[in-house]
Amino acid sequence: MQSKIQQAGTAIIEGTEFPVYKGTHGNEVIDIRNLTKVTGKFTFDPGFTSTASCESQITFIDGDEGMLLYRGYPIEQLAEQADFIETAYLLLEGELPTREECAKFRNDITYHTMVHEHFLKFFDGFRRDAHPMAIMCGAVGALSAFYHDSTDIHDPEARKIAVHRMIAKMPTIAAMAYKYTIGQPFVYPRNDLHYTENFMHMCFSVPAEDYEVNKTLASALDKIFILHMDHEQNASTSTVRLAGSSGANPFACIAAGIACLWGPAHGGANEAALNMLQEIGTVDRIPEYIAKAKDKSDPFRLMGFGHRVYKNYDPRAKVMQKASAEVLEAVGVKDPLLDVAKELEKIALEDEYFVEKKLYPNIDFYSGITLRALGFPRSMFTPLFALARTVGWIAQWREMLEDPNQKIGRPRQLYTGAAKRDFVPMDQR
Ligand code: CMC
Repeated sequence: MQSKIQQAGTAIIEGTEFPVYKGTHGNEVIDIRNLTKVTGKFTFDPGFTSTASCESQITFIDGDEGMLLYRGYPIEQLAEQADFIETAYLLLEGELPTREECAKFRNDITYHTMVHEHFLKFFDGFRRDAHPMAIMCGAVGALSAFYHDSTDIHDPEARKIAVHRMIAKMPTIAAMAYKYTIGQPFVYPRNDLHYTENFMHMCFSVPAEDYEVNKTLASALDKIFILHMDHEQNASTSTVRLAGSSGANPFACIAAGIACLWGPAHGGANEAALNMLQEIGTVDRIPEYIAKAKDKSDPFRLMGFGHRVYKNYDPRAKVMQKASAEVLEAVGVKDPLLDVAKELEKIALEDEYFVEKKLYPNIDFYSGITLRALGFPRSMFTPLFALARTVGWIAQWREMLEDPNQKIGRPRQLYTGAAKRDFVPMDQR
């Protein structure tokens, strides 16, 4: 990556001038890399609320405007007009592919979708009732044991193959995790199908009968994948970068990202949002849950609401709401939880608490309803998110390795533990 940082001015901290930089969009940053050398002090920023951890040219969010750009293109346009492979190419390479580039990339991904046959045995070590995310953390980490030839992170060609393998094998692994937990045989990928169609085939077909992928549903799922592909320096992406900053191999780094994504405050929120809608059950119970969410002594939060960066409607939630309606119509299902979700959204958007704190629906609010209608059980929601986010993770991992300013990530701390003291032998304690 070639740095495009421009100096916009200076800022005085503790009497010393520090450079201020500007990017294409977004907040200016103060370069404090010399702060400790000059002042002897660290900055204190738990949760990184005011810290830009890197320069990046991949994704930009304007939280106040409710805008999300992949390489400059608005997410709504990509979700409507591009497909998974085209968008993945864009995130990785920086530009939309030409017809030829797209065909080559599609081919490169398609011909890496199978996993090593011995890899199948790895799954037998998991309990039948294991959560698919637990299986994915382990299985993706294990890829480095099978593909040694793409773990040399200093070789650009090996990096490229690792990128292709990661994007190509993720649907196969996610589908295997699903099949394993429901006790059905693994289904091999089919090269005549497009990326998302192939994933649905691996999840829903069985050897006993023919299965034809529904194109409308595959197209809606493709859209959902595009919405989830990248999202700046979120917790899992920062985890992938931090793991990668030590020189760890790409498969290990993505496994770390999957582990982080699993948490309910991040990727696990789609599962939690559907659980919550189900718990609410009927429109008349909404006020009770709104009151719980506002009660400081109650840890309950409206799942699928609020975001660290968006202080406006999450643009992905708008596309997701539309996709949700399309899927429900295509499968001919009238889901009463959609009525609960719509009413909950309406009430929350008018409630002073949510308005004041700028809490809007995020992508996870409608995704559970949509994925359920597509036929996925709740335990697969976060694996689907992981599948799509793998593109962003691996693009960010590669960008980090190619950044001339890259260093091992090593935050400092404000130590408030015991002061230095001498060891006390057991019989004197
Ligand atoms: N319900 C009720 N109150 C909330 C909610 C919510 N969903 N979200 C935030 N608040 C309140 C919170 O109590 C706090 O109030 P106060 O200032 O009085 O203490 C204020 O809003 C700010 O919240 P915060 O926790 O300081 O904000 P954050 O930026 O650290 O947290 C969040 C962001 C997404 C973790 C949080 O909004 C949340 O827990 N939401 C529910 C989980 C969820 O939907 N997560 C999916 C995020 S989108 C998927 C992704 O991109 O990963």
